[in-house]
Amino acid sequence: MKRRLVTSALPYVNNVPHLGNLIQVLSADVFSRGSRLRGFETLYICGTDEYGTATETKAAEEGVTPAELCTRFYAIHRDIYQWFGIAFDKFGRTSTPRQTEIVQQLFKDIDAAGYVSEQTIEQLYCDPCGRFLADRYVRGTCPHCAYADARGDQCESCGKLLEPTELEQPKCSTCGATPRSRPTRHLYIDLPAIRPKLEAWMKEASVKGFWANNAVQMTQAWIRDGLKPRAITRDLKWGIPVPKAGFEDKVFYVWFDAPIGYISMTATLGDEKGFDYQDWWKSPEDVELYQFIGKDNIPFHTVIFPSTLLGSGRKWTMLHHMSSTEYLNYESGKFSKSKGVGVFGTDVMETGIPADVWRFYIFYNRPEKSDVTFTWNDFMERVNGELIGNLGNLANRTLAFIQRFYEGAIPAGKPDEAFWKEVRSLEAAAAAQLDRAELRDAFRTAFQIADIANKRFQAEEPWKARTADPEKAASLLSDLCYVLRDLSIIMHPYMPQAMSQLAGFFGLSVASAAGAQGMSWADVGKLEGLSRVDSVEVLFQKLEADKVAELRDRYSGSQKERAERDARQAHRSPGRENHQD
Ligand code: MF3
Ligand code: ZN
Repeated sequence: MKRRLVTSALPYVNNVPHLGNLIQVLSADVFSRGSRLRGFETLYICGTDEYGTATETKAAEEGVTPAELCTRFYAIHRDIYQWFGIAFDKFGRTSTPRQTEIVQQLFKDIDAAGYVSEQTIEQLYCDPCGRFLADRYVRGTCPHCAYADARGDQCESCGKLLEPTELEQPKCSTCGATPRSRPTRHLYIDLPAIRPKLEAWMKEASVKGFWANNAVQMTQAWIRDGLKPRAITRDLKWGIPVPKAGFEDKVFYVWFDAPIGYISMTATLGDEKGFDYQDWWKSPEDVELYQFIGKDNIPFHTVIFPSTLLGSGRKWTMLHHMSSTEYLNYESGKFSKSKGVGVFGTDVMETGIPADVWRFYIFYNRPEKSDVTFTWNDFMERVNGELIGNLGNLANRTLAFIQRFYEGAIPAGKPDEAFWKEVRSLEAAAAAQLDRAELRDAFRTAFQIADIANKRFQAEEPWKARTADPEKAASLLSDLCYVLRDLSIIMHPYMPQAMSQLAGFFGLSVASAAGAQGMSWADVGKLEGLSRVDSVEVLFQKLEADKVAELRDRYSGSQKERAERDARQAHRSPGRENHQD
């Protein structure tokens, strides 16, 4: 059995993540929890992506150092993920000595292998701001699709990666001035030279690792449309120094160093725990790397980062499965960190709705094959209809019945073979889907199991059978308890708190970490181990329409509009704390 190394995209640290951003971190959490339950030795690594222009600019705006800004936002991110119940093995940072060491070494390796070239280029320089305008701080017309407000690093409309100088009618996005060209010398990774290795690797890896379709398409298009050398240095202060003569005043481009953060964060964990990170990262024979990202990050994970690793000439653990989701949209528009539109992590924490309910909705609707829109109304309907109407109802009616008519002792019954045949085939399907990181499908399969169990309860009418045909009632109730026990394991990665509670009704627990006590996937389908229902509580509270309407209003508009609304209200009454900072 191979070990599994799991990562989710390292979030930028200059903003609060919204629900759309949270999908990656949550997806990798469910996958790694599922992997541990299924018996794989698993390591889940994430952390903050701290360097670059965006951080430097925001810190300057706020009058703090970039390091101070990062430390503040690191804590905000860590607290949000903790609230959501994310079981990282490590939530690290890119601003560490390990990161500097590993990035510089990888650079030296690709340089020594001849894959680094130098070039003097004309770059956009903003006179009023007194600096070179890197990538995302230039806006203009996209040369590929003519989108008028494209960012200098990537067009948000057609998805193509850009160089800022390719934009037509460029503007400084800080001050609006038209920047001018000025020469500067940079280092490039020679992607065309690495291409043969990359192509051979990609062909095999994408099939073996059953990449998401959008990743295959986008990567093939990238390779087909011609790889160009890409600049890996920037004229900035907040970044990793370039260890090469003549480049002392430059730093590495944040997208060159960020993916290496996965490696350095593992190294930092290894330093704390006493293992060698190379045991995970230089073990392609027995480690499988699963990466969870949003579709806008695909080329960095399937082309640029693999090219760095391949170009180094060393034997790295390379990407196995690429799980790249589509977008989550918000009500009638898009989630946007830059515009401040959407439900943010800090908002979610103060809604009073438990983390597992949010996790339910996110996975029930995970945007795997197409974009999905979050609406408050849909949220309420899914929670009340499926989570509570199906799963909650099954648990409640079955367990309450046993408490009421059997004094909590689960009656011994003869398993219904046809029923178990159907359940076991769905359980096997869920296992297979989980192993392929088809998280939404596996979750829905589990709800299908709850659904057929509910139908059987309805059809066999235990309230009559209890006296008319006690054996039939006993068989029904015992089967349904085993189904609930199975669901507490299968759904545990998705809703760890609620499913631990469900298992607890039987006096059991689910192993939530490697080596921990409790049930694992090996217990699924076993018709033994249950005797009593000790306690029963309602697992999930219904969402009320007026409460949901209030939340919809509270979180409508941009964060700026919300802050203004809150400030107005604060005049009248002590309003809620405004989370924006
Ligand atoms: N910080 C990037 C974002 O939020 C993701 C970086 S992923 C990594 O879009 F691989 F570079 F780390
Ligand atoms: Zn400017």
